[in-house]
Amino acid sequence: MRQTRRDFLRHATLAACAAAIPQSAFAATPFEDLIAKVARRQLLPDTYPETEIWGYDGLVPAPEIRVTQGDRVRRRFRNEVPDPSSVHWHGIRIDNAMDGVSGLTQKAVAPGETFDYDFVVPDAGTYWYHAHNRSYEQVARGLRGALIVEEVDGPDIDREEVIVLEDWLLDPDSGQLFDNFEQPMMMSHGGRIGNFITTNGRYDLTLPAKRNERIRLRIINAASARIFPLTLSGLSGWTVAVDGMPTGQLQQIDGELILGPAQRVDLFVDVTEDEGGMAQLLRIGDDDQLTPLVSFSVDGTASSVPRDKPLPLPPNPAAHAPDLADARDLRLVMSGGAMGRMQSALLGGARLGFRQLAQAGKFWALNDVAEMTDTPLADLSLNEPVRLKIENQTVFPHAMHLHGMHFRELRSDGAFGPMRDTILLAGNEAREIAFTADNPGKWLFHCHMLSHAASGMTTWIRVT
Ligand code: C2O
Ligand code: CU
Repeated sequence: MRQTRRDFLRHATLAACAAAIPQSAFAATPFEDLIAKVARRQLLPDTYPETEIWGYDGLVPAPEIRVTQGDRVRRRFRNEVPDPSSVHWHGIRIDNAMDGVSGLTQKAVAPGETFDYDFVVPDAGTYWYHAHNRSYEQVARGLRGALIVEEVDGPDIDREEVIVLEDWLLDPDSGQLFDNFEQPMMMSHGGRIGNFITTNGRYDLTLPAKRNERIRLRIINAASARIFPLTLSGLSGWTVAVDGMPTGQLQQIDGELILGPAQRVDLFVDVTEDEGGMAQLLRIGDDDQLTPLVSFSVDGTASSVPRDKPLPLPPNPAAHAPDLADARDLRLVMSGGAMGRMQSALLGGARLGFRQLAQAGKFWALNDVAEMTDTPLADLSLNEPVRLKIENQTVFPHAMHLHGMHFRELRSDGAFGPMRDTILLAGNEAREIAFTADNPGKWLFHCHMLSHAASGMTTWIRVT
């Protein structure tokens, strides 16, 4: 019997579905080790001694974990640092039990103990992983690295580079980390901002490139509190994804990009610099001074003419915008910090004045509460749409991160922004986000300036 076009399409679809699920999701791949260790690395120039860091497998940044969309990640975390720890897989729409939040989704792993992380990655994109117990110290000591989820059908590019930005607060005499992790001055201001920046563990990262080459840059801000304003020189291109999620339309990069703590951006850039020249990814300083984070030394030509405009990345599975007709309205007021208006807040059920709070190491509050509480900010039912207004009533910027689900910004003109997992608010700025509570569990919502999270800016939601 002759096959109709319809039969053909049906079979083609079935075949495509079968092919799209990677074998590794089923195969019982053994657990690979991921060991948090104390180690010494040469971060500073050679005239300085090595710096003692805490690193996964002793490395800075941590070893890159690279899988394909739909794959299963299995890591046996072994804690060999002298402090209980856990691993959070930032931005992954994960099974709650694998989210790695000490005290909420698991017990912190004691020194010498192990914990098995085993999860499937539903979305392609640029993610990262980091310590999630006393993270203001553990992340600042180096427990952070890239988690890259490749598309099943990758984009048409020449190559890609993962760019992990970190900063370190080092004693310039000894070259060692200052161990003032709980210093009130840092907690009550912009957080622990390093005095030394590395890209992929180096202060002078130089990579080769060819003229007219098209490179995907996966940039990860893994710093504890620093905001990176970025610009390009000798490179031009498009933003194709933010926080791992494809933006849909390509946005031409024009001027500066701002990356808050924990945020990521994927760019497709074409090398426009002449042969023999240097193309750069630069950081814009407070004084507008430009410092290179990566230099691309241009040698040779990839093609004689620039390439055609690229196609956008394919959308991830849960990319639909939430339906806000019956959305739950939530409000989150952020207060506190130095130079703030916060007079008092609740701590341990009692109302304390700013000075008493400061003595208890709390400088910030979310909805008037200066700590993580037993009751969540909201109890949501599965698939409930949410609209959350975040009002930053402090003079500092904050990077609010929701675990387990991506959200969209709801702009003042009513349009949705791209999907994100971390939103950067300027001082005294209010913004609205919306999402569908489609992942059951207990999910943290906190500022990713990690000393802020520890000193009052952490709450959570529950989805059941
Ligand atoms: Cu990047 Cu609560 O984490
Ligand atoms: Cu903050």
